[in-house]
Amino acid sequence: MSDDGQATGETADAQQVYDQARWSDGTRNEPLLSEKNMQEVEVDTPLPDELTRDSLELPSLSEPELARHYTRLSQMNYGIESGPFPLGSCTMKYNPKFTEDIAAHPAASVHPDRDPETLQGTLGIYAQLSTYLAAIGGMDAVTLQPPAGAAGEYTGVLLAQAYHEHNGDDRSEILIPDSAHGTNFASAALAGFDVVELPSGDDGRVDLDALESALSEETALLMLTNPNTLGLFERDIEEISEMVHDVGGLLYYDGANLNALLGRARPGDMGFDIMHYNVHKTFATPHGGGGPGAGPVGVVSKLEPFLPSPRVVETDDGYELTEPEHTIGKVHGYAGNWLVLIRACAYIARLGDEGLADASAKAVLNANYLAEQLEYEVPFGPFHHEFVASAGEQDAADVAKRMLDYGVHPPTTKWPDIVSEALMTEPTEVENCRTLDMLAAAFNAAAREDDETLEAAPNRTAARRIDQVSAARNPRLSWQALSDE
Ligand SMILES: Cc1ncc(COP(=O)(O)O)c(C=O)c1O
Repeated sequence: MSDDGQATGETADAQQVYDQARWSDGTRNEPLLSEKNMQEVEVDTPLPDELTRDSLELPSLSEPELARHYTRLSQMNYGIESGPFPLGSCTMKYNPKFTEDIAAHPAASVHPDRDPETLQGTLGIYAQLSTYLAAIGGMDAVTLQPPAGAAGEYTGVLLAQAYHEHNGDDRSEILIPDSAHGTNFASAALAGFDVVELPSGDDGRVDLDALESALSEETALLMLTNPNTLGLFERDIEEISEMVHDVGGLLYYDGANLNALLGRARPGDMGFDIMHYNVHKTFATPHGGGGPGAGPVGVVSKLEPFLPSPRVVETDDGYELTEPEHTIGKVHGYAGNWLVLIRACAYIARLGDEGLADASAKAVLNANYLAEQLEYEVPFGPFHHEFVASAGEQDAADVAKRMLDYGVHPPTTKWPDIVSEALMTEPTEVENCRTLDMLAAAFNAAAREDDETLEAAPNRTAARRIDQVSAARNPRLSWQALSDE
């Protein structure tokens, strides 16, 4: 390590150093398009006058200027194509190019408003993907409509609510382990349920005694992910399932960690009634960022009549869009986000049963290989697809920033609370041994650094420490907001 805390390559074998490009006009980073060359453009439109403007200010740029602008922005960012992205739970897999080619195929650009008779190929792919997902999850029926994992959770909670109400069963509580993702709590609360948080046992798994005393006739649903967010398999899942079903509740599977089981074990066989699939985490599609992705939901047969509308169903006359008998209604437009879903379908078809099981086995192997090499304490284990290391006396958020200087996207930090200064790490199956060694070297280099060095990081990125609280609480989402300052 040099005096200024920069990586020198001396502290660990395979550690690499990263210099992110920075494009700036001397005062600000790459200007917005709207700051480059704005010109008044006359508006000529058949729309009514009261709905239109006479002229509009738009950037007037050549194609090379435009291409350079976006290339520069991408160079000032870190993505899965820059280097490894071991973001625990959030799972950032590399998206293979062949699925991009399929989504970009001219035949894939169909408008969903067309008559279903002219959409038979598209609807056939929806049906195929639903069949794949049902088989993978051990579910009886699948909706492809929800636009993200979190939206899938909310849909699943609404399905449980509709099911209980239909049976004249008024239940007010949803049980969620303390290790669960924040969206589980949010989905349950948004649907109007009281959330009961279950403390984890000393082994990081569901505490059966705590579960027993929380269960009652008010229990609508227990939401679990398995393996859990510590990467530990809930070994008592059959007993858990029996306990929940005995009081008339349902069991929900958060599919975020399905990568760990893919092709080898199925939530449906463990007793889960409802599940969502995070297609970006398991089947390599772009991450939805809360909306433009996909989070299909699978259910067992007793919940099928409540699924969102429309459903794609195969009949003797071809594929049709139908409305389930007791549908909860729409949770998103049309039958789902087609261009994301077609990528997932292509990925599953290309890998096949063996390929999916192999991907999962490698994801598990990679997590355990990496965990073994870390100088940070890694409690619990052995793991499945991810593990949670502890930064100990260091601040996990500072470690995360420092990782960027080593060309590594940080792990997820400070969650779950069960591990202090958590570094939740999921390398996924896409990384090879060389990259895992480089990742370990980056972690270990940070582990040996003092607080001052960590607090000063990142040194080599286009943006240094940003004000995360203001960014979250006071977002400026348009160029007008920026130019009004
Ligand atoms: C355990 C868990 N559940 C649910 C979600 C929500 O998924 P999405 O990001 O697709 O909305 C996440 C997101 O990372 C997660 O880690």
